[in-house]
Amino acid sequence: MASAKICCIGAGYVGGPTCSVIAKMCPHVTVTIVDINDKRIAAWNSDELPIYEPQLDDIVKSQRGKNLFFSTDIDKEINDADFIFISVNTPTKTYGVGKGMAADLKYVEACARRIAAVAKSDKIVIEKSTVPVKAAASIQRILSSNMNLDINFQVLSNPEFLAEGTAIQDLIHPDRVLIGGEDSEAGRAAIQKLVDVYANWVPREKIITMNTWSSELSKLAANAFLAQRISSINAMSAVCEATGADVNEVARAIGMDSRIGDKFLKASVGFGGSCFQKDVLNLVYLCECLNLPKVAQYWQQVIEINNYQRKRFASGIIGCLFNTVAGKRITIFGFAFKKDTGDTRESSSIYVAKYLLDEGAKLSICDPKVSRRQIVSDLSHPTIASEETVAELVTTETDPYKACKESHAIAVCTEWDAFKTLDYKRIFDCMLKPAFIFDGRGILDHAELTSIGFQVEAIGKTVSQGTVFTHNNGNNILSPTSRVLP
Ligand code: UDX
Ligand code: ADP
Repeated sequence: MASAKICCIGAGYVGGPTCSVIAKMCPHVTVTIVDINDKRIAAWNSDELPIYEPQLDDIVKSQRGKNLFFSTDIDKEINDADFIFISVNTPTKTYGVGKGMAADLKYVEACARRIAAVAKSDKIVIEKSTVPVKAAASIQRILSSNMNLDINFQVLSNPEFLAEGTAIQDLIHPDRVLIGGEDSEAGRAAIQKLVDVYANWVPREKIITMNTWSSELSKLAANAFLAQRISSINAMSAVCEATGADVNEVARAIGMDSRIGDKFLKASVGFGGSCFQKDVLNLVYLCECLNLPKVAQYWQQVIEINNYQRKRFASGIIGCLFNTVAGKRITIFGFAFKKDTGDTRESSSIYVAKYLLDEGAKLSICDPKVSRRQIVSDLSHPTIASEETVAELVTTETDPYKACKESHAIAVCTEWDAFKTLDYKRIFDCMLKPAFIFDGRGILDHAELTSIGFQVEAIGKTVSQGTVFTHNNGNNILSPTSRVLP
């Protein structure tokens, strides 16, 4: 292993942190991350990394130029490498068969074709990106049928389980590392070589090996189960609002049952991120293709509840603001899909903003890590709002106090710690009255806010007015457009 070389194709949220941690934990391994996007590579080589992730800066700066490199010379790095990680994006298809559901594998396929075209020695090709079950077989087929020389390619599945915001700790202390491969002598040898890389820092009992398809399906299953828990607690939050129960108390009570566990039971404005919706839809599509319609419908409900929750939250705001938000200024706290990341992919904030813009609200958006450019770009998407609407109705502010000035309401959409410690008396004083706070993340001190004078509404519990979300279940708002629901 002394001279092992890793090439990672794709310098994004998965490839960047994963391979930086491998470089950190394996000083004797040379890791080069390549990408077709030269601006992104330039940013990885600069003082301002292209993604925000706690602790990532330190790791990159300590390894860069030693055993961690960022390059656009993809062919050279493929050729030099023993291991090639494919960490490119696999978005939901927006065209053709499987539109809105299946994963688009065109970037993965392009990588496989590139590897086949330029490799001159044996390679272990590892799929890191979340892919549909049997994608490894497709990669293997492309590699085998394009070989000019007598080269041996082994394709392994090694799905990534890191969560953004905690990626570095997740990578250094993984719950498990999963490696799937072919059940043959060459397959087992390739698996062992990758096990040896991880064994540099991961306890051996946490590295599990299995057949390729189990590994691929385990990734989809893990994300589907996690997303399902959030939809379950969010569905329960609607029941809590209707009954006077408190969803946090319910979550605490059920989470103490060791069979259920206490993680991923935080009711919210809906899950976002690049993985959950994509992977659940991917699973739904797989089930439909396998002629398992009941199973497909079962998982589809996880998405339906998530869309419902986003819509319900926006409808609650409109309902509380006397059924009209036209021309009213509403401050959105948080645009990232969760705290401690600048990533906005599938963020619930986008959908909440869309519903409010559809009703003519003026939005003042404040996020500690998301740029104005990103916010405008996300909202100007054809399925969200027109460029003119965004230019007319959306302002962005880095200072939360300025963001709230003369607002009718604040909607907390991302659970950033910075929002917990603001001077809410000062904020109250600069808002129009009655001043509303809609806590879509359950992070604020509701009793204190009420004593300041705010009208407080929170997901899954009754604070100031109660039951407003339940009275207005979202039917007056257009359907979400992230995909057309059947
Ligand atoms: C997820 C998986 O956790 C990770 O294992 C996988 O590799 C990629 O997908 P990520 O999307 O980065 O990671 O973040 P995660 O922490 O899972 O949160 C996803 C969404 O669910 C966020 O919008 C978050 O705010 C929301 N969430 C999470 C809740 O609403 N309630 C919870 O209790 C937990
Ligand atoms: P993820 O969250 O899965 O890491 P990102 O979109 O953040 O997704 O990153 C994927 C990266 O893969 C992007 O920087 C993109 O430019 C890169 N990429 C896509 N296709 C290729 C390719 N064929 N060769 C090299 N890089 C690619």
